[in-house]
Amino acid sequence: MPGIMPDFPAQTLTLDLGPRSYPIYVGTDILGKFGTAFCYYNLGRQAVIISDENVAPLHASKLVRSLADTDIKTHIITVAAGESSKGMQVLQSIYDQLFDFNLERRDSIIALGGGVVGDLAGFVAATFKRGVNFVQVPTSLLAMVDSSIGGKTGINHPRGKNMIGAFYQPRLVFADTAVLGTLPARQLGCGLAETVKHAVIRDANFFSHLQKNAKNILNLQQELMADLVLRNCRIKSAVVSADEQEAGLRGILNYGHTIGHTLETVKTVHDYHHGEAVALGIVAANKLALQRKLIDTDSQQKIIQLLTAFNLPTSVNEKLPVDKLYHAMQQDKKVQTGKIKFVVPTSIGDCTFVDDFTEDQIKAAMKSLSA
Ligand SMILES: NC(=O)c1ccc[n+]([C@@H]2O[C@H](COP(=O)([O-])OP(=O)(O)OC[C@H]3O[C@@H](n4cnc5c(N)ncnc54)[C@H](O)[C@@H]3O)[C@@H](O)[C@H]2O)c1
Ligand SMILES: [Zn+2]
Repeated sequence: MPGIMPDFPAQTLTLDLGPRSYPIYVGTDILGKFGTAFCYYNLGRQAVIISDENVAPLHASKLVRSLADTDIKTHIITVAAGESSKGMQVLQSIYDQLFDFNLERRDSIIALGGGVVGDLAGFVAATFKRGVNFVQVPTSLLAMVDSSIGGKTGINHPRGKNMIGAFYQPRLVFADTAVLGTLPARQLGCGLAETVKHAVIRDANFFSHLQKNAKNILNLQQELMADLVLRNCRIKSAVVSADEQEAGLRGILNYGHTIGHTLETVKTVHDYHHGEAVALGIVAANKLALQRKLIDTDSQQKIIQLLTAFNLPTSVNEKLPVDKLYHAMQQDKKVQTGKIKFVVPTSIGDCTFVDDFTEDQIKAAMKSLSA
């Protein structure tokens, strides 16, 4: 990969994966300069932007204009917003359109949207003609801090979420935090849950920074947002470059997700968004850590306070169906040889894996979420 563009008005970092390394650009109001980056990294003569019906009308035109300015031919495919687009039928219809556009292997697919569009477009890019260039332009906070980096792509199957997929790294990640201005507040919270996750597992200084600046972050103060995205990317990049295909270390990114995933999949009274379920999963995982005396109550309180400051739930006002939740957890693809592996903090900024919590302990941690 050529190095970082000189004099480009953004902060950058490189995700180091040898020949598959790629740059991550984070800035404010940089979408209009995307074409320059596209050409600099030699990403083809044609680009297909895949976006969703919420994001495309708000943000696609800037991207299209900047590509047109650099003589790149552009097409847009717009899918319905939401998880239902991560499926076989949408995939088939996208492949059909790519043939109509004569997309070639050296051309690019650009994901402009949240994690749904990123996962879907990434899987299309990984598989169409055995792989075309892929660029992530994340527009939700969750996509900026988490899903756009690391190369996990895929779609859902009726038998399980994200069950059909591939590891396929983008050639470039280009995040413009100005687009967060149109993101619904509840979606912002989801990205903040992943942010708290990153801070707790890897970075105590970042955690203190979030505590101090929670209010201004919620108000989307621009320098704070670009800095927040970059710091998240640094943490995730370091983990991914040490363990790209999740043989070990990358599993720490599942902190809060073991119980969190089940709260998303099993029908409960509330329909939790991913980040909300993760916030609850973090609180429950911490309960398990407390019980083993891996962390103290003071750390648990601080984590709960930060999640609360970001308007995330830390308890539920319903009786959770713990038997069903436990069963769902056992079906998860990450359960190895019947053991449920938890990521638990050992302090704020560090964590470990524990896979021998008993069924009773796990159910008790879930029950403790009911206020
Ligand atoms: N690949 C990975 O490593 C990874 C990691 C975490 C999550 N994911 C996946 O990501 C998905 C969740 O991502 P998400 O939370 O971004 O969901 P999403 O893509 O559905 O986006 C959330 C909502 O926000 C809207 N939106 C996005 N950006 C906007 C903007 N700037 N202005 C206005 N509206 C905007 C979208 O249209 C959508 O309605 C899930 O499918 C999950 O499996 C993948
Ligand atoms: Zn997540």
